[in-house]
Amino acid sequence: MRILGIETSCDDTAMAVLEGKGEKVKVISNIVSSQIKLHAKYGGVVPSLAAREHTKNIGKVFSLVLKEAGIKNFKKEIDAIAVTRGPGLGPALLVGVSFAKTLSWIFKKPLIGVNHLEGHIYSNWLNPKLEIRNSKFPILNLIVSGGHTELVLMKDHGKYEVIGETLDDAVGEAFDKAARLLGLGYPGGPAISKIAEKGNHEHYPLPSPMVHSKDLNFSYSGLKTAVLYLLRDLGKRKLDEQTKADIAASFQKAALDVLIKKTMKAAEKYKVKTLLLSGGVSANKMLRERLQKESAELGINYSCPPMEYTTDNAAMIAVAGYFSYLKNKKTALKAVAMDANLGF
Ligand code: KG4
Ligand code: ZN
Repeated sequence: MRILGIETSCDDTAMAVLEGKGEKVKVISNIVSSQIKLHAKYGGVVPSLAAREHTKNIGKVFSLVLKEAGIKNFKKEIDAIAVTRGPGLGPALLVGVSFAKTLSWIFKKPLIGVNHLEGHIYSNWLNPKLEIRNSKFPILNLIVSGGHTELVLMKDHGKYEVIGETLDDAVGEAFDKAARLLGLGYPGGPAISKIAEKGNHEHYPLPSPMVHSKDLNFSYSGLKTAVLYLLRDLGKRKLDEQTKADIAASFQKAALDVLIKKTMKAAEKYKVKTLLLSGGVSANKMLRERLQKESAELGINYSCPPMEYTTDNAAMIAVAGYFSYLKNKKTALKAVAMDANLGF
């Protein structure tokens, strides 16, 4: 079957067409229209502006995704619609959900509301290298994005237990804030990881919050404050590139150390055989590599999404929608436009 995926929870207007057959999925087309330039001057995403841009772009993205997939007759060639229903920015989500509801109503197609974080988890089903299909549940997920830092035990398709989470800021948010303090622009994650390659993390050591706590939770607001105080102590002089790189490297190490330590602790505690990394911060090369190494040492399978599916996209929403549809065909079929309560 073919599913149209729609994602508008933050600053990307995204759509994808996915082909699903049994446990196998294949992306037919995938379009992401980014608003990064618009929000960069504000240092973060402005919800009302994001919604306005989604409204402006959604029609174009829809035409393009169908064109790339070679779809001429929507009613005949698309079997269901999956849309992000939350969490995310309310005004932005409404644009995608309203569009999806309208399509579902016009073409009488089942509508599947997808949790954005579940979408990130399923981005791993787009990793051709790992046969997740053969992985046994429970699977451990580390979801790291601009809004979330969560350790989730996946007991089956659609069955989850949150076993650890951030008590304040998300790790991606901490990258963004640290980058802002260092004058590196938005989004901060890619900028910090790039400049950190040239830095020495031992030069300005920073604390790894909650690294020794017994639970599986995280906290990132203290790390951001530590960067702020460090910059204050260094005085007002203009930071040279090497100092910025050293601070970025220390920040990255402190942020990742705690993520990795708690993830491996959770893997041992729950005796999982597979670990999946996902969310925008999963684009971080050092995080990908260190988790790979630690998983190999522990003898467990490990997957991270292909780079293009790390940050927000609609292919992951379509995959999550597809597996949800397989499980709940009856309810999905009934959920056509008007009576589809997507939890809004
Ligand atoms: O999943 P995502 O696209 O949007 C949310 O659902 O939040 O994640 C965006 C986050 C941003 O905070 C961005 O700075 C971070 O992912 N990010 C990275 C990297 N690339 C993106 N963080 C660290 N290293 C990266 N290479
Ligand atoms: Zn996301």
